[in-house]
Amino acid sequence: MKQDKSLCDQVAIVTGGGSGIGRAVVELFVEAGIAAVVIADVLAEADEIAATCQKSSQAEVVSIYTDVADSTQVKNLVAQTYERFGRIDILVNNAGVAPVVRWPEVTEESWRHVLDINLNGAFLCVLEVLPYMRAQKSGRIVNISSVGAFLGSVTAHPAYGVSKAGLIALTKSLAKECAGEGILVNAIAPGSIDTPMLASFGEAARSQYAEASLLKRQGTPHELAEAVRFLVSDAATYITGSTLHVNGGSLLV
Ligand SMILES: NC(=O)c1ccc[n+]([C@@H]2O[C@H](COP(=O)([O-])OP(=O)(O)OC[C@H]3O[C@@H](n4cnc5c(N)ncnc54)[C@H](O)[C@@H]3O)[C@@H](O)[C@H]2O)c1
Repeated sequence: MKQDKSLCDQVAIVTGGGSGIGRAVVELFVEAGIAAVVIADVLAEADEIAATCQKSSQAEVVSIYTDVADSTQVKNLVAQTYERFGRIDILVNNAGVAPVVRWPEVTEESWRHVLDINLNGAFLCVLEVLPYMRAQKSGRIVNISSVGAFLGSVTAHPAYGVSKAGLIALTKSLAKECAGEGILVNAIAPGSIDTPMLASFGEAARSQYAEASLLKRQGTPHELAEAVRFLVSDAATYITGSTLHVNGGSLLV
């Protein structure tokens, strides 16, 4: 892997960085030579995952237990990150849940649960990180949305698509707000990516999604991570408020 000079002095927070896409982002940032990555996740094994991701690299990879839906925990995440590393350059809002709940079983509680993590969690992270990025006059925020923002939920809870569409509107609002301050904000809308979340939908859904893409396969977490890396790199200095579709052409089928 070639080192990416634009990442070498950078500090990133990756929410949901312990599994699937988030973990692939952490691994790719480390391979590209980032200075430090903080994994913000609710997984019990996140410390071990951080140690594994660090391997023998120069990067510092740490895990800070954080439920992104909890504002106190998010405040603590951001304060601890700044205290330890002295800057925050990149926020990847990736933590998400996609419970399989059909309309007849939808409750107010399950609706709020999905929105609290997928949308409000991203908002809370932005709220805390933004003052540091503003003071630095630089920063990159990448929000992990979904094709569900455009198609509506397919297998997951109906609130899933709503939360992911909300992330795209949040991306645009923030991009407008922060453009003059050197902070670029973009979204990525993944299609079907081979992760534990996808596996939780079952084999039938997995095959159906592969068929419903031009490339007739799932994407890998690494392919998605490459898109994140592009958006935070010096190759993407004129991109803000955009949504990058990484879906094997599934919106065209
Ligand atoms: N896999 C796909 O096909 C696909 C498609 C479109 C969008 N996405 C989105 O990509 C993101 C990553 O999904 P994935 O497929 O890697 O799933 P995953 O289940 O493998 O990983 C999700 C991570 O988020 C963490 N998380 C869950 N709730 C959290 C909370 N409250 N606070 C902090 N962390 C929390 C989990 O512990 C896990 O580590 C999600 O936002 C998901 O909606 C995935």
